Amino acid sequence: MTSSPLIRPDFEKFEKIPTKVFESAKIASIYAAKEIADLIKEKDKKGEQTVLGLATGSTPTQVYDELVRMHKEEGLSFKNVVTFNLDEYYPMEPDSIHSYVHFMNEYLFDHIDIQRENIHIPDGTLDRNDVYEFCRQYEEKIEAVGGLDIQVLGIGRTGHVGFNEPGSAETSKTRLIALDSLTILDAASGFFGVENVPRRAITMGVGTILNADRIFIMAWGEGKAGIVQQTIEGDITPQIPATYLQDHANVEFLLDDASSAKLTRSLTPWLVGPIEWTDQMLKKAVVWLSKHLQKPILKLTDEDYSENGMNDVLTDIGRAYNVNIRIFNEIQHTITGWPGGKPNADDTYRPERKEPAKKRVLIFSPHPDDDVISMGGTFIRLVDQGHEVHVAYQTSGNIAVFDDEAIRFADFVTDYHDQFGFENVETSKLFDEVRASIKDKKPGEVDSDAVKTIKGLIRRGEAKAACRYVGIPDENMHFQDLPFYETGKVRKNPIGPEDIEITKNLIQEIKPHQIYAAGDLSDPHGTHRVCLDAIFAALRELKDEEWMKDCWTWLYRGAWQEWDIEDIEMAVPLSPEETDRKRRAIFKHQSQKDRPLFPGTDKREFWQRADDRTRNTARIYDDLGLAEYEAMEAFVRWKELD
Ligand code: F6R
Repeated sequence: MTSSPLIRPDFEKFEKIPTKVFESAKIASIYAAKEIADLIKEKDKKGEQTVLGLATGSTPTQVYDELVRMHKEEGLSFKNVVTFNLDEYYPMEPDSIHSYVHFMNEYLFDHIDIQRENIHIPDGTLDRNDVYEFCRQYEEKIEAVGGLDIQVLGIGRTGHVGFNEPGSAETSKTRLIALDSLTILDAASGFFGVENVPRRAITMGVGTILNADRIFIMAWGEGKAGIVQQTIEGDITPQIPATYLQDHANVEFLLDDASSAKLTRSLTPWLVGPIEWTDQMLKKAVVWLSKHLQKPILKLTDEDYSENGMNDVLTDIGRAYNVNIRIFNEIQHTITGWPGGKPNADDTYRPERKEPAKKRVLIFSPHPDDDVISMGGTFIRLVDQGHEVHVAYQTSGNIAVFDDEAIRFADFVTDYHDQFGFENVETSKLFDEVRASIKDKKPGEVDSDAVKTIKGLIRRGEAKAACRYVGIPDENMHFQDLPFYETGKVRKNPIGPEDIEITKNLIQEIKPHQIYAAGDLSDPHGTHRVCLDAIFAALRELKDEEWMKDCWTWLYRGAWQEWDIEDIEMAVPLSPEETDRKRRAIFKHQSQKDRPLFPGTDKREFWQRADDRTRNTARIYDDLGLAEYEAMEAFVRWKELD
C-alpha cells in the first residue's frame, strides 16, 4: 500500500467508504485475492462452503490471475466454493466471445478445480417471459447457500455496480435492466462498434449486493477517478448507485494511485491533516492555490495561504513572497523551445543538456499515430534543430482500421495487378478473397491474415507519410509490430520476452541520447502501458552499457490526458505555425480521421484532442503568471536508472 504521509486516520472527514490506496492495481488485486483465499481456507477447515459474488470487466482480472496462481502454485482449492456472477448481457449466447460465461471461463473457471454445478451466471438465452422467474430463483439460490460471503465489484463510469444503472433503488433485486448509453459506449470497443452492444442485461440488484457479508469494490486508472470521488465523498444518490455502498458495514474500496487522484486526500492533502512539505507537495499546493483563487502565483499573499488551509506553508517554509518566487522559477525553468538541449547555452536551469549538440533521439510510438498526436510539435522541433530523430512504431495498430478500407486497398492491388501484373505474385484474386472473408465475419471475430496484413500496412503507410512530412529519412522509421499486440482482438497478450528483446535490440542499435515514450502509467491493460513496460524492461536490461549514462528518457502522455502541472519537467511551447504543421502531420493518419474505429467516449477527432490539450497546458501556464504561448507539449523524466 502507498505509505506516503498522505495516509492518515482523519480521512473519514471526507470519505464515506473505507478506502485503501495501493501503488498499483496488481498489488491491490493481490490484497483482495489473499482475503478471498484466506476465507476459503478458513471455511474449508470448518467443512463449510464459501460463496463468492463475482464481477467481470477489466477491473477484477488481476484478482482472478492471483487466485489461479494460488491454485496452481499453492494448492488453493475451489472444490467447496460456490459462485454467483453479478450479471450477463441480454440477449447473449454463452458461447459468444462477448458473454460473461466466456469471460469467467477464460479468466478463472477453466484454470481452477471449481465444480461446474457450483457456478451461477445469469442466463442470457432466456425467453423474455421467463426472465422474471429466473431472477426470482437466482435470489433464492443465493439465499439457499446462506448468502454471499464476499462480493467483488468494479464500478462503471455511470456509477453502476453490477449493471445497476443510475436510477436503481437501494432495495432492488436481480432483474432485467436497460444499459445506460455511457455503459454501451464503454463496451463498444470490445464489441467492435456501438451498434453491436446488447441494450440490456440481467443483473443482481443493489439490495442483493448489499446483503453480502463483505464487499470489495475496486477501480483502477485515471478514467475512473471522477466517479470514484463522487462515490466515496459524495452523498448517497440513486443517480450514482455505488454510493449505496456507504450504508454497508463491511465494505472496502481498493484503488490505485491514478483512480484515487480526485479524492481530497490526493488533490489537497493539506486540507485533510498536517503533511510533510516536500518540494513536489509545495509545488502542487501553490499551483492549486493559484488556480483556486484564479490569481497568478506571484500575486498570492500570506492571507491567501492562511485562509485556504495552508498556514503550515508560512510557518514551515517561509513567507508567501519567497515561496511564490521559488515555485514560479521552478515552473519557469521547465519551459524550453530546445527539447534536444540548447547548444552553447548555460544549461544549469534547462530541462535538457546542451551536449552533445546533435543528439540521437528515439521516439517510441505505441500506435502508428501517437508520435504526432502526442508530441508532434516537439518531434518537428527536434528534426528542425538538426537532431538525428528515429521513430519506433511499437504495434501495427491493425485492429483500428475499418473493413471497407481494407477492401479498398485490396481492390487497388488487384486492379494494379490486372493492369501491370506482378512478377511471381498471385494478387489477382486478393480483392475477392478479402471481400469474402470480411463478408463472412461476425462482429468481434478475428480478421483473416490477409486482412490483418492489409490493415497494418494501411497504418504503416500513414505513419511513413507523417514522418516524411516532418522530415525524417525512411531508414529512421522502425516498425516493430510487437507480437503481444497481434491477437487480432481488442484483448492483447501479456508482454513477453520477444517484445522486450525486439525493443532492446533497437535501443542498442541506435544508442540514443534521448528516448521519448508514451507514459500512460495507470491503464493496467491498455496497449500504451504494455508498450511502456517493454521499454522499461529493455532499459533495465541495458542499464550497465556505457552509453546508457547519456541516455535520458522523457515520458509524454497519450491523446486524452496531460500531466499535472506540478509534475511537468519539460514544457515545449509551440507557435501557431508549429501547431498547424503538427495538425497536418496528424492528418496523414487518414484511417483515424473523421470517425475512428475506436473513438472512445470523446466525440472530438484526435487532432482536436491534441489541439485542445496543448492549448489548455499553455493556458494554465499563462494563468499561473508565466509567458503566454499558443500551445505546449509536456514531458516528465523517467529517472529510475539515474
Ligand atoms: C461486470 C459489472 C460491471 C463492471 C463495471 C466496470 O460484471 O457488473 O459493473 O464491474 O462496468 O467495468 P470495468 O472493470 O471493465 O471498468
